[in-house]
Amino acid sequence: MAHAQLDDLDLEILHSRKSEKWHTYPPDILPAWVAEMDFPLAEPIRRVLQKAVDGWDVGYPIAPGDTGLREVFAARMADRFGWTLDPMRVEILSEVVQGMYVALEAFAGKGEGAVVQTPIYPPFLSAVEETGRRLVENRLVVGDSGWAIDFDELEAGVDADTRVLLFCNPHNPSGRVFTRAELEKLAEVVLRHDLIVIADEIHCDLVFDAREFIPFATLSAEILARTVTLNSPSKSFNIPGLRCAVAHFGGQELHDRFNGRFPRHVRGGLGVLGLYASIAAWQEGQPWLDEVLPYLQANRDHLIEQLAARFPAIRCHAPEGTYLAWLDCSGLELRGSPAMHCMRKGKVALSDGRFFGAGFESYLRLNFATSRAILDQGLDRMAIAFEA
Ligand SMILES: Cc1ncc(COP(=O)(O)O)c(C=O)c1O
Repeated sequence: MAHAQLDDLDLEILHSRKSEKWHTYPPDILPAWVAEMDFPLAEPIRRVLQKAVDGWDVGYPIAPGDTGLREVFAARMADRFGWTLDPMRVEILSEVVQGMYVALEAFAGKGEGAVVQTPIYPPFLSAVEETGRRLVENRLVVGDSGWAIDFDELEAGVDADTRVLLFCNPHNPSGRVFTRAELEKLAEVVLRHDLIVIADEIHCDLVFDAREFIPFATLSAEILARTVTLNSPSKSFNIPGLRCAVAHFGGQELHDRFNGRFPRHVRGGLGVLGLYASIAAWQEGQPWLDEVLPYLQANRDHLIEQLAARFPAIRCHAPEGTYLAWLDCSGLELRGSPAMHCMRKGKVALSDGRFFGAGFESYLRLNFATSRAILDQGLDRMAIAFEA
């Protein structure tokens, strides 16, 4: 895929999409919210989907274990992150968020604590709330180099009834990609308090500046044994509508507890198109991602420059990964939420910070996975939203 294809997105075609991003608001609103990219599909994925449709190949899928996806995931983790894992320890799910809910049900009892590092992708909070687990909030703090884990608060917050750490790395919405030193410090807390880690690593490929992404399960054998890793090609390869994800269990006991929690049919079946596309993405999608990632990184740099030049009252620490920017708009001293100003005055939809945890009402999350021209249009609309 040529760079020009990333640059040359047609707003009319995008507006005709039926996806959540493009179909929730009327066409006069420019969407820059839900985490979906606007770029053309990777050719190997398009090809496999086209072949299935042309061949009317939409019958029942074969048993998940026979699809090859588990082995493909294992090969991908080994290739990208040097993580050798056992494909037999992998379950195929329809979504990462589903994995989070089932894992919370399996590894914490009602009223027992689950640590969540806020601000956070909102389903983390709804998962804890809707399963009746207790939120142990560990709010990230802003240090010299951006958002960081507050280890003192973490130690203070974890009590004898805290069972799990619901961990997100790369972190949505801060864009942090945690360093080995941070992960190891976190691992010490996990071991000291006998926690199970539910690690959402869906953004693992979306890492900038040649930073290293380290799967939590690779830290040590002890950590592996207590870590459930959730992943999916849906974020990196932009196929979230096809609903396919994986969960890896670091040990037999975790695997059995997860599988024992709900009968198979409650978890739901898988769609063949998601399976075919996920295999194609992980096996053949990397050349596409190799084009997309530098484009995202350049958009990130452009965004940070533009924010500094045009919106000096907005604070944003350059994301190290993901294609999301977390904007502190408190300096604008607005009456009403920044998201509402953007929507009503600027006609641009950004994610409202209040959904990412208590105390983040003056924040916005901006999705920059689009063409440079559309990103600039979004910034122009934000300028209108925030003009006095
Ligand atoms: C951190 C994180 N986890 C999970 C998801 C959603 O994954 P799924 O659609 O597989 O539930 C997203 C989507 O933006 C995300 O950012």
